Amino acid sequence: MGRRIYRWLDERLNLGPVKIALLEEPIPGGASWIYIFGSITLFFFFLQMLTGMFLSIYYSPSTEHAYVSIQYITNDVEFGSFIRGLHHWGASGMMVAIGLHMLQVFLYGAYKKPRELLWVVGVVLLILTLAFGFSGYLLPWDQRAYWATQVGINMVGTLPVIGDVLVRIIRGGQSLGAMTLTRFFALHTLFLPWLVMGLVVVHLFILRRVGPAGPWDEEQAARIREPFWPKQVTMDAVAIGVAFALIATLALSVPAPLSDPANPSDNTFTPVPEWYFLFYYQLLKYLEGPFEIVGTVVLPILFILGLFALPWLDRRQGRRPVSRPMVMGAGAGFLLVVFTFLGLSFYEVTSLPTSDPSVLRGKALYQELDCAGCHRIHGEGEAFAPDLSYVGDVRDRDWLIRHFRDPQAVVPDSDMPEYGLNEDELSDLTNYMLVLKK
Ligand code: HEC
Repeated sequence: MGRRIYRWLDERLNLGPVKIALLEEPIPGGASWIYIFGSITLFFFFLQMLTGMFLSIYYSPSTEHAYVSIQYITNDVEFGSFIRGLHHWGASGMMVAIGLHMLQVFLYGAYKKPRELLWVVGVVLLILTLAFGFSGYLLPWDQRAYWATQVGINMVGTLPVIGDVLVRIIRGGQSLGAMTLTRFFALHTLFLPWLVMGLVVVHLFILRRVGPAGPWDEEQAARIREPFWPKQVTMDAVAIGVAFALIATLALSVPAPLSDPANPSDNTFTPVPEWYFLFYYQLLKYLEGPFEIVGTVVLPILFILGLFALPWLDRRQGRRPVSRPMVMGAGAGFLLVVFTFLGLSFYEVTSLPTSDPSVLRGKALYQELDCAGCHRIHGEGEAFAPDLSYVGDVRDRDWLIRHFRDPQAVVPDSDMPEYGLNEDELSDLTNYMLVLKK
């Protein structure tokens, strides 16, 4: 059947040369699992396009409606939470895939002559992917989005001479608001996708013209040659399947975060950026006062210029890692810095409020008894019962204790279960409720 369809099409479209061009590209040194990351990255890009298109059916890029439209997608739209989860975790997946892809290219010296152009386009794609992450982060228009973007834009403002103008262009006005949201939306859903798509085509075109680099052992590369189909295609497909399964599992089990709606007058909110910006965010914490500009301007520019220039900085013959000690050392140093700062940041974030032990026990109890199965605190949990984000402002200790002891005695037709807590537990849980204030 398939054969007959193919023959029918082939007679009309002359598929032979297409088949050769697509599937018979020789891979020096043969197929390998180490080459899967480029395909995984491309797959994630398509996944983001597809899930993004579905999200745009319901999303509304206005300051009044953005947040509620995300809430609606998450809570009411059929499969909405799953699609949003795929988009949220897919972004992280894409970052990981790009990181591993670049690491492989770096380790194999595959950026060296004659593949400089391939590398340069790749670096541009990396920067555009980061821009995707940054612009997408604002779209839910919650507190996290608002204040993290504020921090990012302020950093741009530290650029000498052009900083102010640039900030005005990015923000679209005097302050972060409706104009910013629409331009981030346009950037995220129109400008960047087309730009990235075009550059991906260029990236693949160059790859096809110069051919893949293959192993660093030139002799092995010349001796063994295997076409792209079927072995490498199969490896890529398996890898993509595994990557998708991981992201789908995450999307089903860990919902994409949504904090309170953006509130420009509540600057008590401490924003935390997405994990792939965390190491940098941590680094900035150590560079204060006159050194701030080192972190916000000097280091990023040096880093990006260094990446672009890499093929010209590392021009000695041979791609073996042992014969490129300087470059390998620089790469290892960079990774060490990234993971150290990432670790420090995680440590700080998780050990944040070590306040009152009773409050912490109450918080643990809240999780243990699965109160989030009905209640929501700062966007986390279900919305069946009253939102408890600021319950400390409206209820006092006495009311809470009476209510926990016997909800129906306080609110006659309450659906809230009675937990039969002892005095200590009642007190811990109440103390936790009382710190939930504006
Ligand atoms: C089965 C769903 C359900 C679960 C589980 C649940 N609650 Fe409730 N809760 C409700 C409902 C419904 C109300 C509103 C009626 C009322 O006030 O009793 C409520 C009200 C409350 C209120 C009062 C809010 C206000 O300001 O009126 C507090 C505080 C509260 N719950 C805390 C908790 C805590 C803590 C837990 C976990 C130990 C919990 N709830 C578990 C359904 C639930």
